[in-house]
Amino acid sequence: MKSLMPLIASLLFTSTTAFRPSQPFTGHLESSKYRSSDRRQETEKKNLTRVPLEVDSRNDGKTELQWMATITVGTPPQTFKVVVDTGSTALVLPRNNCTNCGKHSLFNPSKSTSFSPQPALFRPIEYGTGADTIPLNQTGRAECEVVTDTVSIQGLSAPKQEFLLCHSYGETLSSQLADGILGIGPADISAWDGSGNFTYLPFLPNLVNEGQLSNRIVGLALGFGGQNQQQRGPEASVGGVDDARYHGRIKNVSVDEMLTALSSLFTLDVQAAYIGSGNNKRVWPNSTNGNKPLVPGVAYIDSGTAYMLAPDQQAAENLYSGISKDIFPLNDRGSWGASCATLDEVATDITFTIGTKTRGEVIEVTMPKSAFNLGEYPGKKGVCQAAFSHWDPPLVEPIEGRRLWLFGSPLIKAYYTVWNAKSSTLGWAEKV
Ligand SMILES: *[C@@H]1O[C@H](CO)[C@@H](O)[C@H](O)[C@H]1NC(C)=O
Ligand SMILES: *[C@@H]1O[C@H](CO)[C@@H](O)[C@H](O)[C@H]1NC(C)=O
Ligand SMILES: *[C@@H]1O[C@H](CO)[C@@H](O)[C@H](O)[C@H]1NC(C)=O
Ligand SMILES: *[C@@H]1O[C@H](CO)[C@@H](O)[C@H](O)[C@H]1NC(C)=O
Ligand SMILES: *[C@@H]1O[C@H](CO)[C@@H](O)[C@H](O)[C@H]1NC(C)=O
Ligand SMILES: *[C@@H]1O[C@H](CO)[C@@H](O)[C@H](O)[C@H]1NC(C)=O
Repeated sequence: MKSLMPLIASLLFTSTTAFRPSQPFTGHLESSKYRSSDRRQETEKKNLTRVPLEVDSRNDGKTELQWMATITVGTPPQTFKVVVDTGSTALVLPRNNCTNCGKHSLFNPSKSTSFSPQPALFRPIEYGTGADTIPLNQTGRAECEVVTDTVSIQGLSAPKQEFLLCHSYGETLSSQLADGILGIGPADISAWDGSGNFTYLPFLPNLVNEGQLSNRIVGLALGFGGQNQQQRGPEASVGGVDDARYHGRIKNVSVDEMLTALSSLFTLDVQAAYIGSGNNKRVWPNSTNGNKPLVPGVAYIDSGTAYMLAPDQQAAENLYSGISKDIFPLNDRGSWGASCATLDEVATDITFTIGTKTRGEVIEVTMPKSAFNLGEYPGKKGVCQAAFSHWDPPLVEPIEGRRLWLFGSPLIKAYYTVWNAKSSTLGWAEKV
């Protein structure tokens, strides 16, 4: 009953573009449609723009769900909060005639002089993981049209941005705090349909195309920090690396290019997984691969998902059996947990070796103990959810059939991460 496609993407994606090779797109980059004002605006190019993010959380802040930026759309500007989502590529907003969109700011096209209803494609969208920590039990669907207007973030402006304006939201989108989604996934050009005939520039490539940014690198600092005791909140650095948010060097891991192109999600090779970290780590029980656990595979890295996903039930069982017998399935959607006291007691670091042997670096990244307990499970007093759920049904990547993980914000927020679609790398640095 669960469709595979929505499960492979992140918070949201257009179902028909999910598993498409990037080849049809490459030629389009040179087309006149996308060659606009580079030269004219050369001198206005900015290298780094800091975008403050706001976190949506529950359980008194213990369960962090989504990181949101503020954008404006139209002339005069209408303001929206959008999830900063590396797991999708489109901008999605609710329309003013939507009756099931929840308590959100709705975009009113008739109040914008720069609005165009073109290209007027009807696009239903489906999302795979919602804004919450619980995997979806069914695919959510929203009804939208592709339209065009000016979209701005922190003074950067894309005058003719195509986006999805939805007149009907599914339950998942209507219940989330953010008004919409800002996809910043790795596609430089994407398609609104399966034929590849209707392509668009996602927001970041469009800003680069418009000469507003020198590149589409995004750095994510999903916590507090900053140098000289100067506390800074969560931020995205757009157009460059923010040296004030990390120590040491950025370790750049090359993405699996084919899978990244197919899914429009940053996809990394996973060599091994361990319970613990540093010198104090052990393989998962029932390893079938020498001293490596049975989990080599790949992982989607998705800032728009508030939990981690193991490839299948067995992998989750093996993980939790190596941690505590008291962790049990919480629902029929692949979530696990225990009493809150137990979960706090057994919480542990979880480490992954990631990277491709032939390119870039192979490094260890650790989801810290502090991210292990996601907080009280909705509706179950005293029961807390553990960071890893599992895909159900099991999921494998579409090329070689390797096991597929999803690493969401519990891992991402432990680092200053640098998302570079151009160099096909995802950088990890110690955050400050
Ligand atoms: C952008 O960075 C380049 C190279 O570091 C520098 O020469 C240029 O002045 C910067 N531009 C702006 C607008 O800051
Ligand atoms: C809202 O407007 C859009 C575009 O005109 C239209 O397709 C849709 O049917 C309308 N929906 C409602 C609920 O009025
Ligand atoms: C999914 O869960 C929601 C409540 O979370 C419920 O209303 C709905 O009936 C469920 N759908 C299916 C297909 O199980
Ligand atoms: C896409 O383009 C191809 C070739 O130009 C054409 O045959 C096909 O009908 C188009 N598909 C759609 C959905 O427009
Ligand atoms: C990693 O990539 C970023 C840009 O994505 C770059 O600024 C940085 O210098 C790279 N680090 C190393 C060690 O190559
Ligand atoms: C591990 O293997 C043993 C022996 O084959 C089996 O009894 C046990 O159920 C397995 N544990 C898990 C978590 O798969």
